[in-house]
Amino acid sequence: MEQSGKQLLLRLLLPLLSEGMRVLDIGCGTGEVLYELVQRYPIRGVGIDPYLCGRCENKLELVKLEAEKIQELPGLFDLAYTLMSLHHFEDPLTFFCQMSTKLTRYGRLIVVDWKKGIRTGVPEKYYSLGEVTEVFSKAGLTSIDYGEEVFHLYAVASLTLTRGARNQ
Ligand SMILES: C[S@@+](CC[C@H](N)C(=O)[O-])C[C@H]1O[C@@H](n2cnc3c(N)ncnc32)[C@H](O)[C@@H]1O
Repeated sequence: MEQSGKQLLLRLLLPLLSEGMRVLDIGCGTGEVLYELVQRYPIRGVGIDPYLCGRCENKLELVKLEAEKIQELPGLFDLAYTLMSLHHFEDPLTFFCQMSTKLTRYGRLIVVDWKKGIRTGVPEKYYSLGEVTEVFSKAGLTSIDYGEEVFHLYAVASLTLTRGARNQ
């Protein structure tokens, strides 16, 4: 678990949590962060990751699934986040497009990841903040908060609501 990214995520996420919310963790790994959240707050959690074994217990469900296939998940989510995983996704645009169909009307999506240009010692490709916010807008998401820290970028999105948009 990469602790500074997790702390950044919690700083963005905790003020948004409220009772009864359905929360989605995309690229959840072992599900550790989501597990802590459902233990401490009155929410329900769904975590997806292509490399996990499915698990379901009180308030927490872990599903073996790629980010690019989240349309297959039933129902909508009040809050979704992806922590240190975006750079692993094969097709971020498809993921964000599908994500925009899985958020409730006032739902939020939080992205925290390594930022482009930093050296982690791993030959991976990281995105810039501009690339993330650009793909948000292509996918029908509006950036409502975003920025960079020493190693990470973060971006929070809501649905781009147009007149007469769905009313959930
Ligand atoms: C660096 S780990 C981060 C795990 C967790 N979010 C954390 O912060 O501890 C990246 C995760 O992305 C997952 N991943 C890779 N490809 C993915 C995809 N297409 N969709 C969703 N998750 C994916 C990996 O299996 C891995 O668990």
